[in-house]
Amino acid sequence: MEFASFFISRIFTMGISIAIDGFSSCGKSTLAKAMAESLQFLFVDSGAMYRAVTYYFLKNEVPIHQPKVVLNALENIHITLEPSPNGNITLLNGKDISTDIRDMAVAEMVSKVAAISSVRTAMVKQQRQMSLHNNLIMDGRDIGTVVFPNAVLKIFLTADIEVRVNRRYLDLLSKDTLVSLTEIRRNLFLRDYIDSTRTDSPLLRAEDAIVLNNSNLSREEQLEICLLLAKKRMK
Ligand code: DC
Repeated sequence: MEFASFFISRIFTMGISIAIDGFSSCGKSTLAKAMAESLQFLFVDSGAMYRAVTYYFLKNEVPIHQPKVVLNALENIHITLEPSPNGNITLLNGKDISTDIRDMAVAEMVSKVAAISSVRTAMVKQQRQMSLHNNLIMDGRDIGTVVFPNAVLKIFLTADIEVRVNRRYLDLLSKDTLVSLTEIRRNLFLRDYIDSTRTDSPLLRAEDAIVLNNSNLSREEQLEICLLLAKKRMK
């Protein structure tokens, strides 16, 4: 961890933070949301922020290989995450795009956008600001390593690939989107590869993170384990 990022996080992190990181479709947001409800913490789905930027870039045909144009575009992007019983409502410049950011077009592009350093700098700044006045649980890829290196609890969630593919398939189906298992598997492999190998803040398990493979755990079992861990750490 870079000293500067640790130091900045120390100064600005006021609330208690819990970090949940891991590969795509491991159920990070489901777990984080349930923990947040139980602990009365704010839940933040940081992936939704990268998806919102991607949605904006796609809509406005922002050329992602032109750094100046990307920087200018970022100036025009205001993302708000509002808590709701179904998770975060994602607002882009005041418009609810919660459903749009789950489209395959966004899923296909988001890892490339999330690898751009200026995008990450803008998102991490906003994520740290959210912790100024809130206890929060944030899920993502770099939360325990970069955003909140001093998080009270870090969980690195994993699940077997076929379990993840099936979960994503059912999730999309429940939203009336039919995507083949092959297509989903391809997308998950590609995103995991790009997310883990990018230069800036790659997906890594923080040294002090607890690894949890939830392939054979029910949601309730997983929640119980993580709540026990959180309560122990916060004593
Ligand atoms: O969690 P998700 O699948 O909605 O995230 C979408 C993408 O955003 C994911 O492929 C990687 C990126 N991401 C990231 O780089 N850093 C985060 N903290 C969260 C998400």
